[in-house]
Amino acid sequence: MYKIIRKEILNVDVELMEIEAPLVARNALPGNFLIIRVDEDGERIPLTIVEHDLKNVTIIYQKLGYSTKLLSQKEAGDSLFDVVGPLGQASHIRDVKRVLGIAGGVGAAPLYPQLKEYAKRGAKVDLIIGGRTKEHLILLDKYKEFCDTVYCATDDGSSGIKGFVTQVAEIVYQNYKYDLAIAIGPLIMMKNCVILNEKYDIETDVSLNPIMIDGTGMCGNCRVTINGETKFACVDGPDFPAKGIDFDELMARQKYYNHEEDHICKMKLSK
Ligand code: NAD
Ligand code: FES
Repeated sequence: MYKIIRKEILNVDVELMEIEAPLVARNALPGNFLIIRVDEDGERIPLTIVEHDLKNVTIIYQKLGYSTKLLSQKEAGDSLFDVVGPLGQASHIRDVKRVLGIAGGVGAAPLYPQLKEYAKRGAKVDLIIGGRTKEHLILLDKYKEFCDTVYCATDDGSSGIKGFVTQVAEIVYQNYKYDLAIAIGPLIMMKNCVILNEKYDIETDVSLNPIMIDGTGMCGNCRVTINGETKFACVDGPDFPAKGIDFDELMARQKYYNHEEDHICKMKLSK
């Protein structure tokens, strides 16, 4: 069993948990994720390791489906049944001088360890962060600790520019040139960031989170097509250079699972 050390409500949809898992914590690198099970019968939930020390790991989750809502019922002092990790490839940290992070909604959580690592290695780092409302701009204070400039966008205009992160990027690119952008958020956001960045000749890395089951490359569920080749997000990623990723295929598969998740949720909740 893995003890929950701390729980923090980040907004109405998103929460943070610090969990005692020393073996995972001691071996974690930026880009790694873990899979948790809330109880013995629980679904396996893959989540990025947002922060860690030598004893504890921090995760951030959005209360979307049955299992994350179940996780949300746990409090500090309670325990989780299973924490497996660190999983996946560590982020490939490139030798670059100027990096732009682009975070959409809860995508700010997986972006955080990568962008922080670039800053730690001496790169000049800026951030564009977007969310539905001001409350949906998570980890802002923590990003400000190492980012030179943080630009905000909200769908409702409650903070920063009223609009999407891509609209802010279009303005920023008029004045600044970046060696690399890392875009993490909804698939449509990442796809649009990649299209925009190609126009400005900026390479982009993304993080993909297709539905995962085993997290070890066995089930094939997290497959993605990149330059015509099949890759598995759990063992080959979840971070990838964006060039050649078939985002349309990923979005089509995600739509299918949205329906399935809803269906399963209703069945379980009606027990
Ligand atoms: P959201 O739908 O609220 O969008 C967040 C922001 O993304 C928006 O405010 C906007 O700035 C930008 N955005 C949205 N649509 C866009 C478009 N068409 N063009 C350009 N920018 C756009 O996001 P959310 O509900 O907080 O995030 C949930 C999504 O993020 C889920 O789909 C989830 O799968 C994904 N996610 C991805 C990862 C990952 O590792 N890639 C991790 C966690 C969550
Ligand atoms: Fe099964 Fe990746 S989750 S292959």
